[in-house]
Amino acid sequence: MPTIAIIYATTEGQTRKIAKAARNHFLELHWATRLFDAADRPGADVLDGADAALLAGSLHAHHYQKALAHFAKDNAARLNAMPTAFCAVSLSAMGDEEEKEGAERCARKFFDETGWSPGAVHHAAGALMFAKYDFFRAWIVKRIAQDRGLPSESGDDYEFTDWTALNAFCDDFALSVAPPA
Ligand SMILES: Cc1cc2nc3c(=O)[nH]c(=O)nc-3n(C[C@H](O)[C@H](O)[C@H](O)COP(=O)(O)O)c2cc1C
Repeated sequence: MPTIAIIYATTEGQTRKIAKAARNHFLELHWATRLFDAADRPGADVLDGADAALLAGSLHAHHYQKALAHFAKDNAARLNAMPTAFCAVSLSAMGDEEEKEGAERCARKFFDETGWSPGAVHHAAGALMFAKYDFFRAWIVKRIAQDRGLPSESGDDYEFTDWTALNAFCDDFALSVAPPA
């Protein structure tokens, strides 16, 4: 049974939900899974015995979480020597071509800065969680949402993640790591 280590970083919680959904999907594929929050500063040992690793983080002001960058940078050599994938969560993932290109640029910058080069990348749309934002964040996000024609009622949450696309990405990655005999 192959084993995958999933290391995620989240600010409002959507990437945790995505990482857990990916873990559940790998379990359905009969993989062993291990899930770690980058905020807990996991060490290199979380990769011990893993056949593959999936990292996931979300964009805030064009940057992924620092804790995820630390993990990727500290473990770049090991990650680059094994099958790895990145799930990049953002609002831009569901935008027009220009916005999608912006999200891809942010991901490329993350790879350049950390020295980690994943074999597969999935851009997943995240969520807007107005109930969780403080006044300043709510103000910023409301402007971003309105610019993009997205709903922005204060106090409401809106989820845009395409769970079918996430599962399809996990299927492809799993197949590439452990093709059926
Ligand atoms: C303050 C703030 C800044 C954000 N900046 C960006 C951004 O620069 N680009 C983008 O595509 N999405 C941006 N987003 C959208 C987040 O990536 C999206 O809400 C995601 O679901 C957050 O994931 P998390 O809940 O795991 O933190 C921003 C969201 C917030 C709250």
